[in-house]
Amino acid sequence: MTQNQPNLIESWKKEEQKPFIGWDFSYLDGRMLLEQPPWSYSTRARELMSESTSCLDIATGGGERLLLLRDSWPEKLVVTEGYPPNVELARRNLEPLGVRVVEANNDEYSPMTFEDGEFSLVLNRHAALHVDEIARILVPGGRLLTRQVHGLWAQDLLAAFDATPQWPDATPEKYVPWLQSAGFNVLDVKDWSGRLVFTDVGAIVYYLKAVPWLVPGFSTASHTDNLFSLQKQLETQGELVFEARNYLIEAEKPGCRPLSSSHVDTPAARADFCGMRPGCQDHLLFHRLGHPLEQCRSPNGLIPRPQPHFDRACFEFRLL
Ligand SMILES: C[S@@+](CC[C@H](N)C(=O)[O-])C[C@H]1O[C@@H](n2cnc3c(N)ncnc32)[C@H](O)[C@@H]1O
Repeated sequence: MTQNQPNLIESWKKEEQKPFIGWDFSYLDGRMLLEQPPWSYSTRARELMSESTSCLDIATGGGERLLLLRDSWPEKLVVTEGYPPNVELARRNLEPLGVRVVEANNDEYSPMTFEDGEFSLVLNRHAALHVDEIARILVPGGRLLTRQVHGLWAQDLLAAFDATPQWPDATPEKYVPWLQSAGFNVLDVKDWSGRLVFTDVGAIVYYLKAVPWLVPGFSTASHTDNLFSLQKQLETQGELVFEARNYLIEAEKPGCRPLSSSHVDTPAARADFCGMRPGCQDHLLFHRLGHPLEQCRSPNGLIPRPQPHFDRACFEFRLL
């Protein structure tokens, strides 16, 4: 053992004692650098929220991400969370703002406690995706937006600790066919890989303690040799670089999509709707008792028209 090694072990042990709560890695600012994809989950989530009447955010953590989207929250917002310390945190962060926090574990097989068609939007960021249940609780025309950690996320980092990905099949190749077989139209799939960089080994210790499913049983004591190998690599390379992988999927349950009251028959809403239909100047679409009816606005009022081309461009507009 070199003179410096006991000091390193001491500093790594201190890192593993540092608290981690919610889903907030700001403690590692400047020490863990994650490249970002060219697309933004948050931007798309914000757009979808502002078009929705109700939204469920699955496994919200401490609600940190949701709070960043607060300017676009719909009238009804519900979250689930199952990890007890984060249930408490989510309650503290979100309930005073009118969000319902439901304590529930999230996995790919347990039923959810929500009603059929209860939500017009389901958000799921970095959490297990129970496709069939999401299909059930979405209203026809409702959307699912999910950003997922790819099953092979940082497999080179895991290999440095003699570990392998626990869910290697958690990929678009698994979820896209599942979504389709559950009746969804898959509107968008974006796959991305980039760099996950650590500037010191202590940052990796903190990260692996915070995300305990990456290297099960990880501790400084159990993986000292692995940590020293990385330390040696760091001293020659100046940084430790691994492969990050994420993907985004947006899917729609077929049917008419209700819009939020802020989108009731405004020029912007009509432009959005008509923009999908070449040549259409001024259409409104109503959804009454489950029967869509297209109407065309004229100076004299609303003239009923047959519905020629529905499928995806199907929204509910309400008269003020
Ligand atoms: C990866 S987090 C994502 C949270 C949130 N959706 C986001 O994107 O910020 C997914 C789930 O893991 C839970 N979680 C966090 N730390 C955990 C731990 N040590 N053990 C078990 N679950 C944990 C979170 O509370 C959350 O329910």
